[in-house]
Amino acid sequence: MKYRKELRAYTVRVLLSRHPEIRRLKKQYAPSVHGNKNWGSSWLLIDYLHHRGLPTGSRVLEIGCGWGLAGIYCAKKYAAEVTGIDVDRDVFPFLRLHANINKVDIATRKKNFDHLTVNELRPFDLLIGSDICFWESMIDPLIRLVRRAMKAGVREVLIADPGRTTFDKVCEHFSEKEAGEVLEWTARKPRPLSGFILRVQGK
Ligand SMILES: C[S@@+](CC[C@H](N)C(=O)[O-])C[C@H]1O[C@@H](n2cnc3c(N)ncnc32)[C@H](O)[C@@H]1O
Repeated sequence: MKYRKELRAYTVRVLLSRHPEIRRLKKQYAPSVHGNKNWGSSWLLIDYLHHRGLPTGSRVLEIGCGWGLAGIYCAKKYAAEVTGIDVDRDVFPFLRLHANINKVDIATRKKNFDHLTVNELRPFDLLIGSDICFWESMIDPLIRLVRRAMKAGVREVLIADPGRTTFDKVCEHFSEKEAGEVLEWTARKPRPLSGFILRVQGK
């Protein structure tokens, strides 16, 4: 049986783990905070933006970007100016490979999202993230980050997740205490996926 080495969905080309380029990178780099693959929630975010749209040229910050597919989609489909930040620099070669094969430029920066300041967040219109709240220790930093983004004038924050209990706590915080909404979301491509998107809008 012949196995697929890559897929394409929502115009984004993705190399799978058996692709020779991914195998080659995995021998050199070892992402250690779960940035070892493209996670399903990134497709929820992509599907959401596919239905909802994004103003051309938006300035997008993807936090905990990993391989960066959601940001790559924004750059490819909406000519967004995208920056991907991640605490683990070993994810960036995988992101760059995907940016190259999708013919987009993505700026990258190694940074803990808990350390992003209001001033650093100010230049962005949209902050996105997928599957970035999988430990208890990530709940408060994520809440603080979204609050700083609002203070910085970021127009919208979209965080997708498969529905982890840790993410629920972030959702509870924003839906009870601040102007956030939680959308149940499904995507059919590249495979059936379901989860949630936390959406927080600026004033
Ligand atoms: C489960 S992966 C998700 C990657 C990507 N967003 C996706 O959906 O495919 C989590 C990513 O968040 C990054 N990460 C974890 N904690 C972080 C933090 N405090 N600041 C920035 N990035 C972080 C990890 O290095 C990893 O790349």
